[in-house]
Amino acid sequence: MLALGKNRNLLVLALLGLLVVAWTAWVPAASAAPAPAAPLQTLQTLHWWTSASERRAADLLGARLAEEGVAWKDGAIPGGAGVGADKVLKSRVLAGDAPDAMQLIGTALGEWAEAGLLLEIDKVAQADNWRSVLFPSIFQLVQHRQHVFGVPLGIHRINSLFYNQKLFRKYKLAPPANWAELAQAARVLQAAGVTPLAQSSEPWQIATLFENLVLAEGGPAYYRALFVAQTAQATADRRLLQALERLRIMKTWTARPVAERSWTAVVRQVANGEAAMVVMGDWAKGELNEWGLQADVEFGCIAMPGTDNYHLYSVDTVAMFASDYSHMPAQEKLASVAVRPSVQAEFNRLKGSVPVRRDADTAKMDSCARASWRTFARGPAQQVPSLAHRMAADQESREAIIAEIYRYFMDDRVTPGETQKRLDMILRGFRLRKRGSEAAPSA
Ligand code: BGC
Repeated sequence: MLALGKNRNLLVLALLGLLVVAWTAWVPAASAAPAPAAPLQTLQTLHWWTSASERRAADLLGARLAEEGVAWKDGAIPGGAGVGADKVLKSRVLAGDAPDAMQLIGTALGEWAEAGLLLEIDKVAQADNWRSVLFPSIFQLVQHRQHVFGVPLGIHRINSLFYNQKLFRKYKLAPPANWAELAQAARVLQAAGVTPLAQSSEPWQIATLFENLVLAEGGPAYYRALFVAQTAQATADRRLLQALERLRIMKTWTARPVAERSWTAVVRQVANGEAAMVVMGDWAKGELNEWGLQADVEFGCIAMPGTDNYHLYSVDTVAMFASDYSHMPAQEKLASVAVRPSVQAEFNRLKGSVPVRRDADTAKMDSCARASWRTFARGPAQQVPSLAHRMAADQESREAIIAEIYRYFMDDRVTPGETQKRLDMILRGFRLRKRGSEAAPSA
């Protein structure tokens, strides 16, 4: 009995002990800061940020969203300028499996909005006062038929020329300010056995070089007439011929044959001194930084000679697919978080771009970003939309122009005059079709 009683007491004590242990283990947990909330919702994303710096920038967005209870489910499709992501998006939408958030830029945003597939984010834009915090042209860019469909992330400058400082110092070259100085630097480098220009044969990278030359040659008004309005006068203009001739001259500054390289591989050639210069959107800077190289130290970053006063832009925007609206809270959260001043500063520093906000702090930017942001801030007269990055023209005419420029660049037997004639013919065809379809409803 006694033995049993003793045992029972021991059992009670042991149970009490266990309870105390459990209690003490539980109490601090309950009184400490609340554990991170279980993810509110998952956001399936689709984008083409696959290089090291692009990844880091996308991860930052994911981390900031996680703090708000939204899990960023990453869907990265390789292919510079969205060549691969574009195709994946179309097939996913056809299969009824649209992502919740997609990197959709330029005219593509309006085209998808017109199809009625995108979520309107007017509520967020209104609550966060986008109309006054964003640059007016950025606010305009994210709207379609008076509704907001895009979340602006950052502004890239396409008229950027990066050069290897060591090589420039070695051959006593000053950063070129115009075509004559650029051509002179190329001659000096070539005479010394250095490849002046790193260049890929990917069509969008050739188009990048060409649109830079059109801007340098003709200025913003001519550029817009050729790529945005696509007028007959612009295609007949001798400035187009001149830009084509210069494109061919620049080809002679590259290593032959011009190989089909990713943009990271091309930028790498300048970083390691295999080539002296590259004309590339300033995501190149994000990548150079990621490799431990800094602007004004290991590499120089200037505007493409002849375009210093202009900003040839590509704005990164994300759009949301509406589907059954079940992801709307998470989608709206992304819209709000991405435009926040602190996220804008962090994201764009990693990405190589600059904030879309008028109140950005330029003191924390490097010289390259500061020049970009200040030039863009001067207003629409200075801002020029990139054709290569879907800012200037609809998909069809963009692709047709790029294909023609590619053909010309790759085959030295094709003359500038022939290419000018073909561009004129192609754009005339598009104009006629557009006029026809505009006239059709009233016919
Ligand atoms: C995008 C950038 C991206 C670049 C290279 C551009 O179209 O706007 O965000 O870094 O392509 O893929």
